[in-house]
Amino acid sequence: MSEEELKKPEQIVHYPDPSFQESALIHDYNELYHEFEKDPDAFWRRIASDLLWFKQWDNIKVWNHPYAQWFTGADLNITYNCLERHVNNDRRNKVAIFWAGENGKERILTYYQLYKDVMRLGNALKSLGVEKGDRVCIYLPGIPELVVSMLACARIGAVHTVVFAGYGSKALNERITGAGAKIVITADASVRRGGSIPLKPVVEEALIHAPTVERVIILRTQEPKVSLLDEFELDYEDLISQADRYCEPAHVDSEDPLFILYTSGTTGPPKGIVHAAGGYMVGAYYTTKYVLTLRENDVYWCTADPGWITGHTYGIYGPLLVGGTIFLSEYTPDYPDPGIWWKLIEDYGITIFYTAPTAIRMFMRIGEEWPNKYDLSTLRLLGSVGEPLNPEAFEWFYKYIGKEKCPILDTWWQTETGMHMVTTMVGLPMKPGYAGKPIPGVVATVVDDDGDPVPTGATGFLAIKEPWPSMMKTVYQNDERYQQYWNFGKYGYYSTNDLAVMDEDGYIMLLGRSDDIIIVAGHNVGTAEIESALVSHSAVAEAAAIGKPDPLKGNIIKAFVILRNGIVPTPKLIHDLRYHVRIILGPISVPAELDFVDNLPKTRSGKIMRRVLRAKEMGMDPGDVSTLDD
Ligand code: PRX
Repeated sequence: MSEEELKKPEQIVHYPDPSFQESALIHDYNELYHEFEKDPDAFWRRIASDLLWFKQWDNIKVWNHPYAQWFTGADLNITYNCLERHVNNDRRNKVAIFWAGENGKERILTYYQLYKDVMRLGNALKSLGVEKGDRVCIYLPGIPELVVSMLACARIGAVHTVVFAGYGSKALNERITGAGAKIVITADASVRRGGSIPLKPVVEEALIHAPTVERVIILRTQEPKVSLLDEFELDYEDLISQADRYCEPAHVDSEDPLFILYTSGTTGPPKGIVHAAGGYMVGAYYTTKYVLTLRENDVYWCTADPGWITGHTYGIYGPLLVGGTIFLSEYTPDYPDPGIWWKLIEDYGITIFYTAPTAIRMFMRIGEEWPNKYDLSTLRLLGSVGEPLNPEAFEWFYKYIGKEKCPILDTWWQTETGMHMVTTMVGLPMKPGYAGKPIPGVVATVVDDDGDPVPTGATGFLAIKEPWPSMMKTVYQNDERYQQYWNFGKYGYYSTNDLAVMDEDGYIMLLGRSDDIIIVAGHNVGTAEIESALVSHSAVAEAAAIGKPDPLKGNIIKAFVILRNGIVPTPKLIHDLRYHVRIILGPISVPAELDFVDNLPKTRSGKIMRRVLRAKEMGMDPGDVSTLDD
């Protein structure tokens, strides 16, 4: 396709810089996609064969709609691939993790050191009676111990469920009890913007009605040390120092669960997305190598907290599987000043920088004088994830951070997909506003309600037609909810719940959610969770939450609240309700705006019509309101 043909009047197209093309060992997209299409199983066999398996698979996949099993009959351990595969070869002394803490604190772990730490904690967990298949909840800030804890679980075949350390006590309790965790690993506090945020009180409250928890392991970082509850709470360092050194990697079946990660649902409590060992490992490895193009000499920074899926796949597992060097930091983007991230890029010579649109928009607003103070010339590739990267933010990122040399990957995927699904792979022309094409290995399409393709340029639903290795196994203890995903239209496609448009070159633009999930600063928040948190306040009779477009955060949360009889609406009550949500769910879920109303638009069956609220809020036509109750 010629440059002319690709160019539409308003659509900007950037062609990858030739100097980059030469240096970056990129893979030809069309060739790779063709290889996949010709024989999908052979394609995945080739990828999976780079990794070490204790026992080979019988089949690459067994597809029994809506269930796919991957690498059936195979035995493996993901940590053997993340650690021994490198330690026993040339990467023993290679830096696995550079960690930068506030105030210039630094920690460096080589592959060998990480390997030793993981084995010790693995043994410590075993000594507490943790067995294969047991769930361990990890509630830690983005410090090396979080990486060690995840890998230690995987080492012994336990299933980790990481909860982002910004979540409040109820959200934490729901996830601990939902997963039936036996052990919780946490810290006394996390560090943020020059201060420390206590975590232990949140954990204590979350543990009160959590009957499955037998022990809590606490990393104590603060002086004076917090006191521990005898027998129930154990000191992380003590445990490690008493643990045996060598820990055999558990042989887990490819289909055994590796982790559960909770994500917000449209209704009811959050969903525990289950990922299995073999398929997830292959998906994470493949995309880190071929999409992120992570190479031997890269220093790679994924700014997502390890507590999210991006942190799981591209902060930890993917880069360790390919033997890369990870940069991890607890610095927020604007403290002590808005130059800190650019300073870190200069100091560590970061080569690949993977971040979120909300951060890019924040930097754009602050201005390019901050990045201009630093040498960003080591950067060779930029990435974005979590929500659409709007063309203005793309252009700014491209020009001021990538200096018009670095390709930008706008990666579309989900907690459920486990790996990248749609993006513009390095080497292809980039169209700001469009995420790009399905990557080789993924069969995605834009369809109408029935599942039939919509015409080029028309809005439809993004659906996935065929299984892929790192697809979720199920929703923990809720198979019915899993099945709903593979129930789209008449062909039973996987429904992403995202609206999309495809252009004549097959590039996909994402237009936002088609359900009641709100993406706030790239974080997935369910209206149901916010509403139930509000209703749990004694003053509230009913509540509805919607997402309202915001130039910085993508969306903000707006809540509508009906008060109980006799309760007087006051400005103070608005603050109280916002505090209440913050304590229960954490800061991400707090409504930025809250209105008191007398009634809410509902269907005759009593379902709140958020669509009507949203339209009214934005001064738009509410569309079909025939189901609206009087
Ligand atoms: O709506 C899409 C949006 O984030 C949703 C998935 O959220 P979560 O499971 O929390 O995972 C986020 C990180 C992978 C999607 O259904 N989303 C994610 N990436 C993009 C995006 N929307 C547009 N463009 C993206 N690149």
